[in-house]
Amino acid sequence: MVAGLPGRVPGNGGIVAIQRITVLGAGTMGRGIAYLGGLSGYETCLYDLTDHILHDAMSLIEATFAKSVEKKKLEASDAHKGVSRIFATSDLEAAVREADLVIEAAPEDPELKKEIYAQIDVLTPGHTILASNTSSISISELAKLVEIPAQFVGMHFFNPPHVMKLVEIVLGDETSAATTAAVREVAERMGKETILVKDSPGFATSRLGVAIGLEAIRMFEEGVASASDIDKAMVLGYNHPMGPLRLTDLVGLDVRLGIAEYLTATLGPRFEPPKLLREMVERNQLGKKTGKGFYDWEP
Ligand code: CAA
Repeated sequence: MVAGLPGRVPGNGGIVAIQRITVLGAGTMGRGIAYLGGLSGYETCLYDLTDHILHDAMSLIEATFAKSVEKKKLEASDAHKGVSRIFATSDLEAAVREADLVIEAAPEDPELKKEIYAQIDVLTPGHTILASNTSSISISELAKLVEIPAQFVGMHFFNPPHVMKLVEIVLGDETSAATTAAVREVAERMGKETILVKDSPGFATSRLGVAIGLEAIRMFEEGVASASDIDKAMVLGYNHPMGPLRLTDLVGLDVRLGIAEYLTATLGPRFEPPKLLREMVERNQLGKKTGKGFYDWEP
């Protein structure tokens, strides 16, 4: 806790109806979640460290709104209203001090998340729900970093957030029923289906998704088939919308490596990352976001 600042205590009557959402982190997931917030009528604040990052993120959010209009998913007037509800700032206190719900979408680094929660825990009002978009880190462990673990929950979105239908709601040991109900309502207003998952390593989705992804990388490493044929196996043989290597490129090889390392530490060596994955991350071949992964990507 920061010296001189009071600790957070549950606010009057606890949780209030959520009107204002703050998203911490303007990367792929954060800006996608901010898009969903603006789209579904929430006053939405997007925070990141620099104005430069935020400027780029807002341009991409506007492009997503424009694309949705072009695809006839959205009326132009609704897109305009959606964009106008999103406000970007690099001032953390301004970002969180009036938030009803904070969704943290920072990189998958436990130390970084620890730092973020230490800061926001003293800046948010007592009624605020804190949610993490982590793909694998224990929600109960993260909840230990904050004053009110009952108001801490996992809200796991999927990439691309504006298209994928699921939000995995992860319940920490102390997450309250009121917190669960509140974030479920937000996810549903964002047009998503939800599942409730007990806090356990990799939850339901990452544990299964990473298992397939890592095995596909090992098969590629062993020369079993080309990247595109391994992908075709799952697309045509199992009706997956996208093969596991292309999906790894979309998610980010660094993200996949981070999850695999965490799952190795918690669930055992069956999640050990293949050598090739480590080498590609070292070479900055992170997939779509750096232009190269198992495939070459246009900027
Ligand atoms: N708003 C709402 N819906 C939209 C939309 C928009 N702006 N733009 C597109 N859509 C919908 C389309 O209507 C379409 O839905 P229907 O099939 O019901 O008509 C669907 O999204 C697909 O759109 P497209 O036709 O434009 O694109 P596509 O068919 O080429 O699919 C894809 C692209 C959605 C990415 C698809 O390849 C896919 O589902 N891939 C797998 C993605 C995946 O597995 N993501 C999870 C990654 S893991 C993760 O994120 C978790 C983690 O922690 C790392």
